[in-house]
Order: sequence, then C-alpha cells, then structure tokens
Amino acid sequence: MRKHIVAGNWKMNKTLDESKALASELVALVKKEVNTDTEIVACPTMVNLAGVSDALKGSPVHAGAQNCHQEESGAFTGECSAAMVKATGATHVILGHSERREFFKETNEELAQKVKMALKEGLTPIFCCGETLDQREAGIHFDHVKKQLTESLFSLSEADFKKVVIAYEPIWAIGTGKTASSDQAQEMHSVLRKHIEGKYGAQVADDTSLLYGGSCKPGNAKELFACPDVDGGLIGGASLKARDFVDIILSF
Ligand code: PGA
Repeated sequence: MRKHIVAGNWKMNKTLDESKALASELVALVKKEVNTDTEIVACPTMVNLAGVSDALKGSPVHAGAQNCHQEESGAFTGECSAAMVKATGATHVILGHSERREFFKETNEELAQKVKMALKEGLTPIFCCGETLDQREAGIHFDHVKKQLTESLFSLSEADFKKVVIAYEPIWAIGTGKTASSDQAQEMHSVLRKHIEGKYGAQVADDTSLLYGGSCKPGNAKELFACPDVDGGLIGGASLKARDFVDIILSF
C-alpha cells in the first residue's frame, strides 16, 4: 500500500528563529490533532535545516531539504551535499522543483545524478515534475512530464525507484492561486502511474506515492486528495502557516 504524504516546501522564507517557531507550532498541532499515518515533511531553506531538524526531533514530522548537489564533495562553492543534508537529521530532499529547473537551469540528466546521490545517502527524494501553460495548451504536457520521469528516474534499479516519491506540480499552478482541477490532477497522475507501470510493473506503480503541488490549500485539498491517484501534496505558500498546513494534512 502506498503512503499518504504531505510535504511543506517553505522555499526561501523564514529566518532561523521563525523557522524553529513554525516547526514547534506545527509539531504541537500535529501531536494534538493528527491521528493518521500520513507522512509529514517540512522543508526549510538549507541554512535553517539543522535547526528545524532539531526542533522536529522525536516528533512525527520529518525534516527535508529543498535541494542537494549531485557530487559527493569538493569545489562547489555555495552548494550542499546529500551527506550534509543527511547529517542534519533530515530524511527527505525535494529535487527538480520547477523553480530550480527554471532559475538554476537544472536538467533532467543532472537530476538523475542528484536522485542517485540522495538515495546513496539514504534520503528520500521528492522528485518534482510538471509542465508550463504553453506545453499544456500545445497538448504536449503528458509527453513532457513522462520524459522528465524517464530521463531522471528510469535508470534506477527497481529497489531504488521504490524509495522515490513523485510530486506533479503544473508550473502554471505554482504560487498563482490557480489550482489544477481535481480532474486535471487525476488525469496526469494516472498517466504517470501507467508510465511507471510500463517500466517497473503494476505492483511498483501501485506502491508509488504521487503528490500533487500547486496552490493546494485547505479549501481544495479534500477534493484533490479524494482522487484515486493523488496520494498527498507538496505545499508551498499554505505550508508557511501551521494551521493551514495541518488542515491540509487533515484533508484525507
Ligand atoms: P504553492 O507552491 O503551493 O505555493 O503553489 C507549491 C510548490 O512550489 O511546491
């Protein structure tokens, strides 16, 4: 059975003190109100990861990074390795977010290396994929997203692929307040599950957690999470408020 997962992508928001305060508020609410086995992850910016990991210690909330480098170590000024992420106590790492692809020119090939490095260090990659509005309007969105999976994930062994979580995030829905309809989310998720089935077989496809991301909030999470192939969410803006994030977690 695949897991339900709700992950918060805090992006470049919150200082160390603010991040620790949000983490503590989140833990308190989760302990009080969440009584399910939904996996919960909070992903602060890198410089605050160790502090947030400490604040989450012993709680049901995991810490995750928003990126890591594909090389083990070396002369890569300003970068952070998967081992460094792991050493903070974090368990997850978001890879291939559309903002990384757009502003930092991350390619499918580079992401394949990042995913492998994350797995080597025992981190769970939350691999992001998604199309632009132009690609959707041109009718090439399914092919585009399938290609992202093929080129970044399909060289993994079956055992490794099973450790990856996938987040479908249509770029036109990120931070825009314009959510994909539940039909659009379900349609893409079922296309992706079929694509995974073609490579790794029905059982692996059925066990893969596929998250939706893009303007997911308390008001629409219930409808999105009710889709048979939507197994949770990657939440940006709404994860910056503990109350909203927990309401999303409670939407299953
Ligand atoms: P959003 O961001 O929820 O603010 O649209 C989602 C994401 O970028 O992961």
